[in-house]
Amino acid sequence: MKIPWQNNNKLQERAFKVMPLGVNSNFRFWGDGITPYMKEAKGAYLWDVDGNKYIDYRMAFGPIILGHAYDEVNAKVKEEIDRGTMAAMTYELEIEVAEKIVRMCPSVEMVRFACSGTEATLHAIRVARAYTGREKIIKFEGCYHGMHDYTLWSTYAPTESYGHVRNPISVPASSGIPQQLNELIITLPFNEPDILKRTLASFGDQVATIITEPCMGNCGGITPQNGFLNVIREQCDKYGIVLILDEVKTGFRIANGGAQEYYGIKPDLATYAKALANGYPLAAFGGKKDIMSTIGHGVAQGGTFTNNKPGVAAAWATLTVLEREPVIKTIEKRGQRLMDGLCKILTEESIPHCMNGYPSMFSFAIGVEKITDQRSWNLSEKKYFLDLVEAMVDRGVMTDHDPREPWFLCYSHSEADIDTTLNVFRDTIKSVKR
Ligand SMILES: Cc1ncc(COP(=O)(O)O)c(C=O)c1O
Repeated sequence: MKIPWQNNNKLQERAFKVMPLGVNSNFRFWGDGITPYMKEAKGAYLWDVDGNKYIDYRMAFGPIILGHAYDEVNAKVKEEIDRGTMAAMTYELEIEVAEKIVRMCPSVEMVRFACSGTEATLHAIRVARAYTGREKIIKFEGCYHGMHDYTLWSTYAPTESYGHVRNPISVPASSGIPQQLNELIITLPFNEPDILKRTLASFGDQVATIITEPCMGNCGGITPQNGFLNVIREQCDKYGIVLILDEVKTGFRIANGGAQEYYGIKPDLATYAKALANGYPLAAFGGKKDIMSTIGHGVAQGGTFTNNKPGVAAAWATLTVLEREPVIKTIEKRGQRLMDGLCKILTEESIPHCMNGYPSMFSFAIGVEKITDQRSWNLSEKKYFLDLVEAMVDRGVMTDHDPREPWFLCYSHSEADIDTTLNVFRDTIKSVKR
């Protein structure tokens, strides 16, 4: 990074002394001297602690759907928190948010709140296990469902460690995950219907849930191909398995009703977090009434902060704006222009690549022409991608350092921001050697 980051690096030094890696999530650590520390953010922009301004395409890993510090959302939060933040009681606004989610998300008949995507998937998995009386989980290599031990397997490992595609090895993504949990997880490549069918022919009657992101939002935005989600749905029906669609990234982002609306697929349960509250802490999981109704009748779910007022008020305001205004359509139009423009520049410079994802969350992989799963994504060029990111940050456009993480757009990105970004990208491509 060429940018002079005096305050930034001083802050990193201080942070290193009191927080591992100087951050509160490993994902936010880019490296020594290159990890950005933030001062403030508004709309589509953020400022680092040295006062440099960036067009932001990280959007906090996806939650910011309307814009940073969106006035209408903040106003609602301020109004509500002055009337008390919590009381171990249910309040009307909470019910209204639940009603909005049920109205917007086609498969959701009942919902419960949580504070993070991790909690939402944890609870959904418990409910699926309780409902089926089975314990095994199927998840796909490269999908991420949060930090709990049940699914933090095969999220991001070298292809060699996954074994043969016909008989994948499940790889824990952290020390400290009990090996015994390996008994309960089956990891498979995404977009491989035959491998899924063969696995279920052997284990189908032991599987409680297939949990999947609708697209690989934590692996370059790889989309489901040749009706893969429909195959999962059919196979779940065949074996009595609960399908959990993890919409933590896609929910309220690729459509008001998330991927289930976009693809017309009805999961049994779905999980939400990020865009639900435009950057405030609220998550949710919900689905079919008979499955959700197990909660409270032998199935435990709860949490002191699950109805936290800032999160609930922010969700209320965010969903109100989403229902009232053409938020997703506007983002789609601008995002598509950005995707097309980036693709054109890469093509003009004869850089082999493929674009993945949706206009509101997309990515590109360099050096490969098609990717369908994490194994094929692993073949893309990472070093050049990182060089491009650093050069763009130097020029005032912030995308994520991790090539798995998509570019996210929000309602506040303007046509002019897209023009600026394309100019910066063209300049970057011309100046960074591959
Ligand atoms: C698809 C998906 N599920 C679950 C999670 C976990 O959410 P959280 O970070 O809020 O715990 C994430 C986070 O990135 C995610 O992308």
